Amino acid sequence: MKIAVLPGDGIGTEIVAEAVRVLNVLDLSFEMEEAKVGGAAYEAHGHPLPEATLKLAQASDAILFGAVGDWKYDKLDRPLRPEQAILGLRKHLGLFANFRPAICYEQLVGASSLKPELIAGLDILIIRELTGDIYFGQPRGRRIATDGHFPGAEEAFDTMRYSRPEIERIAHVAFQAARKRSRKVTSVDKANVLETFQFWKDVVTEVHKEYPDIELEHMYVDNAAMQLVKAPKKFDVLFTGNMFGDILSDEASMLTGSIGMLPSASLNAKGQGLYEPSHGSAPDIAGKGVANPLATILSAAMMLRFSLQQPEAADRIESAVKSVLAAGYRTPDIWSEGTHKVGTREMGDAVVAAITGKTITKS
Ligand code: IPM
Ligand code: MG
Repeated sequence: MKIAVLPGDGIGTEIVAEAVRVLNVLDLSFEMEEAKVGGAAYEAHGHPLPEATLKLAQASDAILFGAVGDWKYDKLDRPLRPEQAILGLRKHLGLFANFRPAICYEQLVGASSLKPELIAGLDILIIRELTGDIYFGQPRGRRIATDGHFPGAEEAFDTMRYSRPEIERIAHVAFQAARKRSRKVTSVDKANVLETFQFWKDVVTEVHKEYPDIELEHMYVDNAAMQLVKAPKKFDVLFTGNMFGDILSDEASMLTGSIGMLPSASLNAKGQGLYEPSHGSAPDIAGKGVANPLATILSAAMMLRFSLQQPEAADRIESAVKSVLAAGYRTPDIWSEGTHKVGTREMGDAVVAAITGKTITKS
């Protein structure tokens, strides 16, 4: 088994280093190889996703990814911006199924901006289609308008599109995931306005016929955005397209109060996967040693479970994370009065100690 380790930019290098330490104490046999990606790759090789990095990713069973991006690259041409690295990996590896759990950890209920009773026990799984929709639809570009409200004016355009097989395969993923949970799927669309999402709704309804044991509900995206802050616990599997999934997954992760805790997985049809924290590169705190490594450590656990067939090792990581939280360890993003504030490295140390069975001593 081979893992491509792509730390990327900002806090990416610090948090991935901790996840790698955790993987190393598990006593499993896999090879890890590191490569540059994002802004770091642009600096070193002139491209955010160099050929060598892509080849390594393609040749690996799994990719452990940190984060990419920094404000200093905002002025670069779009194909050279760090974000193109993650979009390129999704596209070239066909990573169409994105799993983003939004879980509220018991000890972190107070960190949410919502009232504790609304989010205590929250456990939603967002399944986002990741290789289609307006993100990848062609044509796109800039041109001079020949019609519309201002013919002759400069305009820009993108294309929202989904084919039947693209919708079918992600719908199967969502219904199958629901079977392992409480058997309820909310498919989020904008069928009242968009042809693409009327088609989405139609195809999802057809695929649902194969899953009579699963309850399916359809919801417009604007209503879903509202319900997520009004009564988030009504959702179990929230399933949607690429663009809506981007927006709703940020909303859902933030309302748990623990965006620094949330892992994610992006899988292709072969079971190869890219595993990354749900949060970004946080350039404002990069290099300070204060970033929360737990989302990345938990992403490594998802990797062991989904791509490397090591469920026991995944359990060990997840229990270790729970025990360090129970012991009061907190990075600044989740710190509250009465808990023990630690940095990135110390949090990694605590998880390693919990796995290896050494006692954790608070300094
Ligand atoms: C995400 C990010 C990416 C996206 C960016 C970095 C391209 O926001 O993974 O949600 O829009 O998909
Ligand atoms: Mg996003």
